[in-house]
Amino acid sequence: MLYPKPLFFLILENTVLYNFDEIIDRRHTGSLKWHYSDDTIALWVADMDFRAAQPILNTIERVGHHGVLGYTKPTAALYQAIINWHGSRYGLALDKQHILFSHGVIPSLALMLRVFTEAGEAILVNDPIYTPFMTKVRDNGRRLILSPLTEAEGRYHLDLVDIEAKIVEHEVKLYLLCNPHNPGGRVWTADELEALLVICKKHDVAIVSDEIHQDLTLSGHEFIPFLQLAKGYEHKVVSITSMTKTFNVAGIKGAMIFAKDEALIKQINQQQRLRDEHDLNLFAYEVMASAYEKGGEWLEQVLAYIEANIDLVCDFLEKHLPNITVMRPDASYLIWLDCSAYGQDDQTLYNQFRDAKVELSGGIQYGNEGHLKMRLNVACPQVILIEGLNRIHTALSDMSQPL
Ligand SMILES: Cc1ncc(COP(=O)(O)O)c(C=O)c1O
Repeated sequence: MLYPKPLFFLILENTVLYNFDEIIDRRHTGSLKWHYSDDTIALWVADMDFRAAQPILNTIERVGHHGVLGYTKPTAALYQAIINWHGSRYGLALDKQHILFSHGVIPSLALMLRVFTEAGEAILVNDPIYTPFMTKVRDNGRRLILSPLTEAEGRYHLDLVDIEAKIVEHEVKLYLLCNPHNPGGRVWTADELEALLVICKKHDVAIVSDEIHQDLTLSGHEFIPFLQLAKGYEHKVVSITSMTKTFNVAGIKGAMIFAKDEALIKQINQQQRLRDEHDLNLFAYEVMASAYEKGGEWLEQVLAYIEANIDLVCDFLEKHLPNITVMRPDASYLIWLDCSAYGQDDQTLYNQFRDAKVELSGGIQYGNEGHLKMRLNVACPQVILIEGLNRIHTALSDMSQPL
């Protein structure tokens, strides 16, 4: 494929205008997403095919230019940038002592299993869910209890009756919440989160909320950090988030754990030190600070582009593949597609897409509720997305008639 090579950004009166139409070839760069040796289009793993924000790239260049890459600790400016970002956007009042750093959201989630539970104890997770929620629970010798989300009017909902029944039946100690939800894209509302909190309080269940997609909340929706609601129950609540998803710097790695109860913070810190998991590399600290200080302009523009891509997908599928049911996300760039009208088994469905040289994430990896679903990543230049959609069309047109 040959694409024109446009300028990647323009600076107008101190405003950087990013060009997300720019095609950046990620093949042969060690990219997890673009690992193919052929011309398959990658619309699967959750990173974006966009160049990072210019202030972040400048920071990496500055650090390299300085030339000394020694041991590093978080600066006062970094703490302040995190505090300002979360305070101004979500009203979350953080102090320096509420913020712990970690290598990633999933390593932090695994750490929380050790903080809140013992081997053999039960942990509740929704189905479908981002796969490591399930594997980390099982691999760490805890009991995985699943509560299926219910579907109504094209959206997922928490089944609060089922959640409470399972908590009681299995003596659940910890609920792993995903907000915004991957793969369903829901941003849980204040009412939903408060109802969940009431249940967890009643049965003394801790809540760890993975909020990595928080800043990708789309227009018309409001993200609420769980910690924000947890007054009086802060000894049992942790929010985990990161700059990596927001600013498309997943290769840098790094995350933050927020907790407000002093004893809980001490316990998390002890667990981290036991495994030497409490500090980040130089680039992660530097990127985190510049992202939260100066990345807002890029984020605003990328969200507008993503939103246009979501519209594009919805229009295309409605016109050309109306038998796919589309779950329009409240947040992020992942669209959950129900392909069950095509009646194939999961592996056949996935293979059909791969044969048409387009890769999406097979829904079944996110739990039984992902049966015959596919997760589509739209964070790429429109020209790539359109080609991907045409291939999806080919994949499904080749299948036997829809049921
Ligand atoms: C909900 C969720 N949590 C965590 C992660 C990964 O986080 P990390 O790379 O910091 O471990 C992802 C990546 O897609 C995700 O979607």
